[in-house]
Amino acid sequence: MRRPLALLLVAAASVAVSAQIAWTPIFLDGSSQVDLWTQSSSGCACPGEGGEECACCVRDGACPCGDIAPARCSQCGLEQYCANMCNITIDSRILKAKSGKSFGQIKSPSMEGPGSCSYFLQPDAGQRVELQLYRLVSVGKFNGTSCVGGWIQLSSASAVRTDSVAETRLCGANERYTPPVVLFADHGAALLEFRIIEKTVRSQFLAFFSFTSLSNTQGVGFHPSGGSRIPHTDCDWLYQDVSCRGPNACILASPGYPGLYPPHRKCRYLFATNSVHTRVKIIFTSILLPRNHCTWDYLTLRAGSSPSAPLLASLCSERMATLEHPGPNLLLEFKSGPLVPPYDYNGFIAKLEFIERLDSSGAPPTVLPASPPLAALTHLLDNGDAALDALGSNEVFANSGGRIGCGAIVRGYGPGGLRSGHFDTRATTWRTQCTVHLIGAATDVVQVSLFNYNLRLQGCRSHIEILEGLHEFSSRERDRSEKGDRALLKVCGPAAREARDPSGRFLIRQAVTSKGANLTIMVRRALSQNAEEEEFVDGAFAFHDEQHEGTASPDATCASTHYGLAAPAHGGVSAPSHHHIFWNIEERLLCTHRFIPASNQSVTVEIQRLDRMWSAEPTGTTGASGCRTACGDAGCECRAQTPLHYHDHVALVAGDGTHLSCLCGDFQAAWLPVVVRSWTSVRLEYSVAHYTYASRGFDYAAAYSFNDDAMCGQRTFTTHSGEISSKNVSVTGSLNEFFYQQCTWVLDSNVERQLFIDITSEQDKSCGSWNITLHEWSGAGAHSDAGLSGAAGDLLYTFCARHKNHTYTLPWRLNTLVIRLVALSRQQPLYTIRWRSQVVRANNRLGPPTPVPAASAAGNGLTISYILYCVLYCILQYAL
Ligand SMILES: *[C@@H]1O[C@H](CO)[C@@H](O)[C@H](O)[C@H]1NC(C)=O
Ligand SMILES: *[C@@H]1O[C@H](CO)[C@@H](O)[C@H](O)[C@H]1NC(C)=O
Ligand SMILES: *[C@@H]1O[C@H](CO)[C@@H](O)[C@H](O)[C@H]1NC(C)=O
Ligand SMILES: *[C@@H]1O[C@H](CO)[C@@H](O)[C@H](O)[C@H]1NC(C)=O
Ligand SMILES: *[C@@H]1O[C@H](CO)[C@@H](O)[C@H](O)[C@H]1NC(C)=O
Ligand SMILES: *[C@@H]1O[C@H](CO)[C@@H](O)[C@H](O)[C@H]1NC(C)=O
Ligand SMILES: *[C@@H]1O[C@H](CO)[C@@H](O)[C@H](O)[C@H]1NC(C)=O
Repeated sequence: MRRPLALLLVAAASVAVSAQIAWTPIFLDGSSQVDLWTQSSSGCACPGEGGEECACCVRDGACPCGDIAPARCSQCGLEQYCANMCNITIDSRILKAKSGKSFGQIKSPSMEGPGSCSYFLQPDAGQRVELQLYRLVSVGKFNGTSCVGGWIQLSSASAVRTDSVAETRLCGANERYTPPVVLFADHGAALLEFRIIEKTVRSQFLAFFSFTSLSNTQGVGFHPSGGSRIPHTDCDWLYQDVSCRGPNACILASPGYPGLYPPHRKCRYLFATNSVHTRVKIIFTSILLPRNHCTWDYLTLRAGSSPSAPLLASLCSERMATLEHPGPNLLLEFKSGPLVPPYDYNGFIAKLEFIERLDSSGAPPTVLPASPPLAALTHLLDNGDAALDALGSNEVFANSGGRIGCGAIVRGYGPGGLRSGHFDTRATTWRTQCTVHLIGAATDVVQVSLFNYNLRLQGCRSHIEILEGLHEFSSRERDRSEKGDRALLKVCGPAAREARDPSGRFLIRQAVTSKGANLTIMVRRALSQNAEEEEFVDGAFAFHDEQHEGTASPDATCASTHYGLAAPAHGGVSAPSHHHIFWNIEERLLCTHRFIPASNQSVTVEIQRLDRMWSAEPTGTTGASGCRTACGDAGCECRAQTPLHYHDHVALVAGDGTHLSCLCGDFQAAWLPVVVRSWTSVRLEYSVAHYTYASRGFDYAAAYSFNDDAMCGQRTFTTHSGEISSKNVSVTGSLNEFFYQQCTWVLDSNVERQLFIDITSEQDKSCGSWNITLHEWSGAGAHSDAGLSGAAGDLLYTFCARHKNHTYTLPWRLNTLVIRLVALSRQQPLYTIRWRSQVVRANNRLGPPTPVPAASAAGNGLTISYILYCVLYCILQYAL
């Protein structure tokens, strides 16, 4: 008879914890056992035979090893490996069926190195693989950065092996770990490898394993909640406010938590909010990183979604921490270095809370100095306000706390004027009819962008309307029928919008720009608030002063135009300051200022001040080495390995797309200002490679002036001889001053003639810096936007400065000639063009035309066309 084994314990439901590391307690009986499954090495009947020479097994789940090892027992289902537990598969379901247990022990054979064993651990659904390492004997050693000579490695069996991902490898010459080193594998089957690559006498390890249920609520079943994994990344996650409602809804931790984390990882956790007013609270309930290893293992929090965004906090030696910052994006990065013995740390665990705070104290306010007060208008407005006040509106000033909700009146000028901001109907108590009035100065237009809304009532009974001018609900219908106003934007219920899509990306902007200075946002909602599903709208507005900031382009995010005749002759432009309406931009931001000089004007754009500019990290590119500015005779150039939009830059671009100058990287202040003077339209591009609301791009300041210099002078000449010569313009003397000039002249004659053109220049410049070309008249384009430049037809001759002096004899009867000057150079071109004509009386049958000189470059073709022409002409003449 077997001895009754009374004291049997099933693995306790609780969790063993040492410091902050937790593991599943694995034991079956008291202290006197030989091993997990063997109660004593003898004293029980041997299977089959009699006698009491065999091992006594614990009752629950153990089976005798039999003849191979009579003094031992093993877990039922693994008896065949009693003598040599090497190269085996342990399947959770089979093990459970045979032994009733979801845990066990792995005791490797005592191996003579080199050699290897592997263990394939197959969990069931809802389980993670847990390993507890207790003992290492002659299993390599740690050289300060990695294991040499041998190791124990736990990895995901399904993962494709790549050299880029460092494996979790442990080693030690003679180690006993109490508490054990704890490891978890979370991606299906795991592979435990025991490998000795040096010569050893006896290498061995002892570990326990567990197929731990993910529903275990005491730490060991940890699995992240509320977030979503970012595809094609090692360990990156996205947490959005919409999926983190309620306490403990969103929990994140380092990989393998609460066990040791893998080495050399960079895990990014992006926290994204949909509402302007949301703050993100990150409560680190435990942080445990290796001691004195802060250059390798640490956590950083950044304001923005990019790893180059400004640093808010850095954690390493803290045991707990709470951080709170406003959205819209925060990036937590967990970086791990090499695994360091004695492997007694486990990373971090944190919970996230998204806090709605409808006052402005949290949101970064951007209150600009308001435009100069316009006395007359202020008076008018004061009267207007009285009427609005009577309707129970509350005026919002920059310094009033900035709660812009229903009934708000926002003034964009005067003392306390607010140039941009956020509005949210939830900022004020419930009103069925809700208006926000935006009142700008005389030269303003208003931009409004909607971020989130929810309208419940069917058939447009709930709606949002954005209207030109100032309106009230009571008078609206009448006003509208009188004025024929149409809403700039109307959203009918039922409708909902969230600022981001489920992948965390911001949706395309839903925005409008007014034509006038005033705008009304009207929201009609249900009679009372629905507790579960509130009807609301939030968004941002900005006033744009068209006189000083240029004419706003209605469909572009950030584009304006300055016309030489309409705009002030001098002005300044700088990085956009109305950040509120860019809250939902999380990508490249391109802002343009286009300067269009009148035909007798030029425009000078002078970049005076510039912050350091950054390069974004293009995904999938390695070794991108940023961007560098190089200035030469033909302007400054941005030089980068990757496309320019990955790099912050400021560029001056001609109407035809030519980059007149481009500045990027750490452009030195000593090289400023960079000046471009252009006689045709030029566009200043401000490009932020990765814009975020928190980081807002770089600053710059540029001045512009429209000069009435009539550089190209008179454009059309009908005289038979004359002269055009360059005029001197004043220069700024800046090292990097560039001239971009395009002049087109037309020499026209209504009688037949032969033209001779002399062009001279004293400058010794290359053709590339400037040149003069002679063209046939195309007959077209004279009335196009491009003015006369469209009139240039086929090219006849090109004059370059180094030709010094050249005379061109044009074909007989080429009565209209187009002359073009093109220059992009540090010096303005200096030249003289003279022309004279040999006129032959019209209808003179006998007048022998001068043949085109055969030496001229384009001569041959022209001679042929002349001959053809003459054949027709002469026949006609003869017939008459
Ligand atoms: C285990 O398998 C590996 C690879 O198949 C083999 O190299 C090794 O020798 C095996 N170990 C033993 C002890 O059989
Ligand atoms: C440790 O071993 C690795 C791998 O063999 C090697 O690359 C590294 O240089 C070694 N470090 C030291 C400090 O010896
Ligand atoms: C904007 O509204 C104010 C206040 O009612 C009014 O005095 C002003 O004329 C309006 N401006 C425009 C351009 O309509
Ligand atoms: C420039 O042209 C505009 C109209 O095109 C004219 O009003 C103005 O007087 C001209 N200025 C000069 C300096 O010629
Ligand atoms: C133009 O300016 C240059 C240098 O500033 C000077 O040498 C030249 O004489 C000037 N020419 C005229 C026509 O004023
Ligand atoms: C003429 O000058 C322009 C402007 O500097 C330049 O872009 C162009 O290449 C030049 N043409 C020739 C034929 O060199
Ligand atoms: C240019 O050459 C012509 C003859 O080809 C000559 O008459 C004229 O004086 C020269 N002009 C200059 C500035 O050299």
